[in-house]
Amino acid sequence: MTSEKTAEPPAVKSPEAAQDAAKAAAARKLSNLGLLWGYARRYPAQLTAALIALVVAASATLAIPQGFKLVVDRGFGAGADADIAPYFWGLLGIVLVLGAATAVRFYFVSWLGERVVADLRRDVQAHLLRLDPAFFETNRPSEIASRLTADTAILEQVVATSASVALRNLFMGLGGLVYLLSLSPKLTGLMLVVIPLVIVPITYMGKRVRLLSQKSQDRVADVGSLVSELLRGIKVVQAFGAEQRETLRFAETVEMAFGTAKRRVRMRAIMTAIVITLVFGAITLVLWEGANDVISGEMSGGTITAFVLAAALVAGAFGALTEVYGDVMRAAGASARVRDLLAEQPAIQKPADPEALPLPAEGRLAFEKVEFRYPSRPELPAIHGFDLSIAPGERVAFVGPSGAGKSTLFQLVQRFYDPESGCIRMDGVDLRQVDPAELRARIAVVPQEAVIFMGTARYNIAYGRPDANEAEIWAAAEAANAAGFLRALPEGLDTEMGEGGTQLSGGQRQRLAIARAILKDAPILLLDEATSALDAESEAAVQEALEHLMQGRTSLVIAHRLSTVKDADRIIVMDGGSVVETGTHNALLERKGLYARLAELQAMGFSEVDSAFSH
Ligand SMILES: Nc1ncnc2c1ncn2[C@@H]1O[C@H](COP(=O)(O)OP(=O)(O)OP(=O)(O)O)[C@@H](O)[C@H]1O
Ligand SMILES: [Mg+2]
Repeated sequence: MTSEKTAEPPAVKSPEAAQDAAKAAAARKLSNLGLLWGYARRYPAQLTAALIALVVAASATLAIPQGFKLVVDRGFGAGADADIAPYFWGLLGIVLVLGAATAVRFYFVSWLGERVVADLRRDVQAHLLRLDPAFFETNRPSEIASRLTADTAILEQVVATSASVALRNLFMGLGGLVYLLSLSPKLTGLMLVVIPLVIVPITYMGKRVRLLSQKSQDRVADVGSLVSELLRGIKVVQAFGAEQRETLRFAETVEMAFGTAKRRVRMRAIMTAIVITLVFGAITLVLWEGANDVISGEMSGGTITAFVLAAALVAGAFGALTEVYGDVMRAAGASARVRDLLAEQPAIQKPADPEALPLPAEGRLAFEKVEFRYPSRPELPAIHGFDLSIAPGERVAFVGPSGAGKSTLFQLVQRFYDPESGCIRMDGVDLRQVDPAELRARIAVVPQEAVIFMGTARYNIAYGRPDANEAEIWAAAEAANAAGFLRALPEGLDTEMGEGGTQLSGGQRQRLAIARAILKDAPILLLDEATSALDAESEAAVQEALEHLMQGRTSLVIAHRLSTVKDADRIIVMDGGSVVETGTHNALLERKGLYARLAELQAMGFSEVDSAFSH
């Protein structure tokens, strides 16, 4: 067997080593399965049991030809008064051992496979949650998700079934060869000469089959992504009357997948014919030689019988090995990709020697000459020469056109990214010196897009304080003006919110997010358009809740509607990632600058800053 390449999609790309062919080739080495071994080693008892069962089952299988050898030589050879019963009782005993050992082997090898994959899934998941957001921008989340599901599914299938088959046949094949050698070195030697002649064409064709099966997999992936895209956009498809068109497009993709699969299957069929012909042809030739030896009396009838049986077992074992070889290679590829993912280091890490934030928290923030570009958009500075000090308890509003960098600023405060240059300090400490967990514990955020997780309303509100009690959760819901609709839900706080909170309206989602922030009770508050999805009445109510919440806390508020920022201690007008104006509402109006113009436009009926800026 050679270490052939299997066809697999390339490993997860780290930004620097994108599409590295050498890396892709390395992914197909059998040694990559070492990752699995590392996990399997944690279960020595099961490993030992599996190993013992393997050896016992293989030995029992090989004892069967030996039994027949005895039957033929001692039983048949003895003529009419031969007592063959003991041999057959012996054979039946061996069969019982074989059955039991096979079941035990199957159980423990499969158990190990499932256990290893379960552990791996948990580790990958835990690791993913520690990676920084930039990683998910440079690596498609869908691709990462497939690492977690598809690759581990390949591993699961391969480790639990193919590995069992491979191990059994490896044992059988090697043990069988040793047994054959003991029966007849000459015939075995002859077989070993013939085998390479068989293996060379098999490996060549195997390579072709694997290439085709890679293509086939890609095609199937095409089908899969097309379906999920269509289903996600089903309303658009129907609204634009594109069902027919999409069906045709889909049919084409499916046919392409079928075409590729057909070529693979044809190749495989031809390969099977050649393999069977070569293997059994070779066995027949070897036996011919053996039969001559029996006739000339050089070999007993029992030996040739045992040789035939054992040779069939060995051939079967190697045949099975070539069949699962592709699977095992697939597993090697999958485990290499999973390993790469596990090796990915988060760019945002807890410093080796983190500096503690002062206690009690003051809530002071300072931006010093901050420069920042998103790693996925390096050509455009999102924040540029940004200088700002925010005093404890101050309420600062950020206004500016869409894309000005307001939300980006919030990302930086939470240290989802590090500035390219300059620094951000909380209570005088550079964010890079602080444990990100400690930093984020001091910030409550209501993001621009409320994120609701699958689970109950209770789970979602108590997200930042899972230990909060019933009364606290209701108080937060009340303050966020969410209690009313929550009470009306069929099961109140225990109502499931559905995937992504799809069972809620936009405004309800936003109020849940506000309740979540209120419950977290942190010294620094980041509100990104917290009230944008609300109608005028609930906005007034939520605004009141937020006013209450902002008392005594440092609050950074992004708002398009100027009515909501009027009361801020200071208003920062941003454009192109920089500060263009600062001051109170009245001071900025008097300055007659950008803000004044914008206030005027809003007073005229352009309700949002955005439209004001773009007019
Ligand atoms: N994850 C990202 N990757 C790359 N570029 C981004 C990313 N997020 C935002 N940007 C870009 O950074 C710039 C600032 O975006 P930001 O979201 O901070 O704007 P904003 O002021 O919050 O706008 P809005 O008022 O529309 O919410 C924009 O040009 C935007 O396209
Ligand atoms: Mg924004």
